[in-house]
Amino acid sequence: MYPANSFAFRHVLDQVAVTKANSIIEAGIGSGQAIPVWQSANLEITGFDNNPERVTDSRAVMAHAGLDQAMVVCADAAIAETLTAVPNNGTADILVGMGVLPHCPDLQGAVDNLTRMVRPGGWVFLELRNVLFSLFTFNRYTYDLFDQVMLEGVQPEVRAAGLDFIASRVLMDVPSNPAPLEQFHNPLTVASELSDTALTNIRLLPFHYHAAPPAADVSPQRLDDASAVLESRDDDWRGLLMCSAFLLAGQRRS
Ligand SMILES: C[S@@+](CC[C@H](N)C(=O)[O-])C[C@H]1O[C@@H](n2cnc3c(N)ncnc32)[C@H](O)[C@@H]1O
Repeated sequence: MYPANSFAFRHVLDQVAVTKANSIIEAGIGSGQAIPVWQSANLEITGFDNNPERVTDSRAVMAHAGLDQAMVVCADAAIAETLTAVPNNGTADILVGMGVLPHCPDLQGAVDNLTRMVRPGGWVFLELRNVLFSLFTFNRYTYDLFDQVMLEGVQPEVRAAGLDFIASRVLMDVPSNPAPLEQFHNPLTVASELSDTALTNIRLLPFHYHAAPPAADVSPQRLDDASAVLESRDDDWRGLLMCSAFLLAGQRRS
């Protein structure tokens, strides 16, 4: 499987090294797969998830690694009051959240909640799904982006002709169960949407490259290998279109 998260985590680990961070909170810790990564970086690990079963899973990983399982608790990124139960809330050096924000309808509220979990000046790294990647997939997501966003307000006849053109050229049945567009975010506009939150010095770090559209006629292994090579393209505009995700990175205002 393509190790997309490891390409995202290298940005986090770079920041740990530069700032000599000691502690990390993992939001949406899931089944605890990243715990060994943070442990290898000598970070004090705390975490939370809003799914109690995932909390149980992560606690088992913590215990297996010789760590205090009470450092992982059940809490919800979208509900600030629940986050007070998370150890190191408000004092951690770094927070990482993979796969959390796509499930938070109030993006500003959730980003603000999560940013306030680090100390002033501390760093957060939050994964978002890249809506612009839809222009690279040539499938249902492409159609949905034109239909719901790009052609909004276009004269009806022109709009219908445009949508017919796209529908006849993309894979309308792929994926069979597309995620709603609200779960995706636009790297060109997201920073300005967050100007009223506690997050500042925002950087966008695209990751999970696709060296060809997902349905291209090439073996999954070959596609993965070619894609991994592209992950070294730092600060490259092509990532805004060829990566299915990006990290929203920034600091808590002092
Ligand atoms: C894709 S998984 C990522 C798991 C883990 N972080 C990793 O990288 O392997 C996303 C996790 O976020 C959790 N999650 C989703 N929305 C959340 C929320 N509002 N608050 C806390 N956790 C949430 C899910 O339950 C799930 O375990």
